[in-house]
Amino acid sequence: MYRLCVIEGDGIGREVVPAAIEVLRHLLPDLQLVPARAGWECFRETGEALPPATLQSLRDCGAGLFGAVSSPTRRVDGYRSPIVQLRQQLQLSVNLRPVRSWPKLSSRQGVDLVIVRENSEGLYSGREHLEAPDVAIAERVISVAASQRLARRASQIARERKARRITLVHKANVLPLSCGLFRDSCRDLLMGEGWGDVLDERLVDLAALQLVERPEDFDLIVTSNLFGDILSDLACHWSGGLALAPSLNWGEGIALAEPVHGSAPDIAGSGRANPLAAILSLALLLRHHWGEAALATRLEQAVERLLAHSESIDFGVDTTRRVTDGVIEALNGS
Ligand code: NAI
Ligand code: MG
Repeated sequence: MYRLCVIEGDGIGREVVPAAIEVLRHLLPDLQLVPARAGWECFRETGEALPPATLQSLRDCGAGLFGAVSSPTRRVDGYRSPIVQLRQQLQLSVNLRPVRSWPKLSSRQGVDLVIVRENSEGLYSGREHLEAPDVAIAERVISVAASQRLARRASQIARERKARRITLVHKANVLPLSCGLFRDSCRDLLMGEGWGDVLDERLVDLAALQLVERPEDFDLIVTSNLFGDILSDLACHWSGGLALAPSLNWGEGIALAEPVHGSAPDIAGSGRANPLAAILSLALLLRHHWGEAALATRLEQAVERLLAHSESIDFGVDTTRRVTDGVIEALNGS
């Protein structure tokens, strides 16, 4: 029996998470749920954005679903983004972000790539300070250990999808020490695992352009934290946007499914939030963490059947309900 820690968070997290759970229960009727809190509302009510009890629940369950949280763009004393903290404290050091075309719906067919992003250090190390009132410093941390952990997972994914190309994305021409160490650590590991023939590299700015011009040329992208964050939002345009962008935060013996999108305050409470990114994130959890590849494929195929006839993923004010019902109906038909 699987246990899942459920963190709805803020905004549309409270809408897409219950919808995705409804779908998952259909596949796993015995699923045991452990609700937990995090986010801006939680911070305002309790003074903590990430209560210790939430961390403990996640550790106990070994698996979680995280909706989204709102984070202010100004410094608020005592507040730090809980998702960044979760990734660091639970050593969820890899983030998987697949992007694929969906028939009919996507603006471009033939895209099928996955971004394997370092998730615990880089420019999101949390080391930021004011050196003087008019000078702020952020430290970018790159370690051999985290880079190799990332490359090891990338190699595993490459085997599973029989990768035709692996692209290491960095900016080692400007950041020779940090990006150089990242590139060399990943390259050594991937060469050692036999990927030399398909291994390629790109500077991040050119990679961004090519993801726009020729996304089909990419298969598996391995990159550091900030670059992966930005490139994955850019690339998900080809699948149909943020509402269709899933991710998995992946550690050793623990994983946290998380739609790429945020709390979307502009549509929160309107019924327009699309739960597909959350639902597809659970498919990643099923496949990569729980080893339930057949269930994951069933779920993805149900989504595919639902979208096969859709020109748009916006079903108006009933989007959350209609998409949830649609996926469950498609599952029942399979
Ligand atoms: P966002 O992803 O929340 O929204 C961007 C745009 O996409 C909005 O127009 C929104 O309505 C739309 N959108 C996003 N998800 C959708 C869905 N499932 N269905 C339909 N439309 C959807 O990004 P934004 O506006 O930059 O950030 C809003 C808040 O979310 C901020 O407080 C930010 O800090 C937070 N955020 C949290 C993340 C997380 O918890 N992992 C990630 C990104 C942002
Ligand atoms: Mg992002």
